[in-house]
Amino acid sequence: MGKRLSVVDLQKYKTKSRKIAALTAYSFYETRIIDSTAVDMILVGDSLGMVFQGKTSTIPVSVDHMIYHTKIVVESSQNPVIVADMPFGSFQISVEKAVENAVRIIKETGCNAVKIEGGEIVVPVIEQLVSSGIPVYGHLGLTPQSINKFGSYKLRAKHDDEALILKKDALLLEKAGACGVFLEKIPAELAKEVTLSLNIPTIGIGAGVHCDGQVLVISDMLGYDSELNFRFVRKYADLNTVIKTAVENYVKDVCSGNFPSNEESY
Ligand code: KIV
Repeated sequence: MGKRLSVVDLQKYKTKSRKIAALTAYSFYETRIIDSTAVDMILVGDSLGMVFQGKTSTIPVSVDHMIYHTKIVVESSQNPVIVADMPFGSFQISVEKAVENAVRIIKETGCNAVKIEGGEIVVPVIEQLVSSGIPVYGHLGLTPQSINKFGSYKLRAKHDDEALILKKDALLLEKAGACGVFLEKIPAELAKEVTLSLNIPTIGIGAGVHCDGQVLVISDMLGYDSELNFRFVRKYADLNTVIKTAVENYVKDVCSGNFPSNEESY
């Protein structure tokens, strides 16, 4: 039985130049398998809206959905830091409402920290959460909850004006007390500059090799979707083929009377 890492442990990794390996997870088996590896952090991302619920964006995900999945992930693991996303609508209405939702997520799930998308606009929320004892990760660059504003999931901060705002926002998040910042789909050189400018760790997804850590969405890296072809996703398995072949073989065996055998019967 391991001792669960804390956000402070991961902050120390940065001073030791040790990389943070993070993955998303949403359910029991995947969490249990991840927990048996050296993964440092599990992010219960609101990406669950797309890769678990099959929605076209993360926007419909609710606080109750986040609590349901985060509780499962916490209870199925002993080692990594568990971070839960604050879903769209849970922190925009007021600082008070944001604290109420974050307290629910932390208290009802036992996770270690929450993550909030956005720059300067979320500074008052981060300040209040941190002074209430809730560790918070920021999230800059491609922020999928703003899909209706951006209109696409394309690379962000390609041009100087947006890059400048992102660099300023990263420093503001650190000053507000964030314990780390996720950087999604931005140029690698910009992510390097941000990483060097901060004392807190950066965790990249589609943000190049210079971030202090990397995160991938578990279903993307395991190859559940044979059509998914994002440049930043390395597929470490082809579960689409593995599952499809297994199911096809099962159907063949059932239809031919080859399953169950005598050994598989009572
Ligand atoms: O929701 C999520 O999984 C995320 C990662 C892509 C960083 O926010």
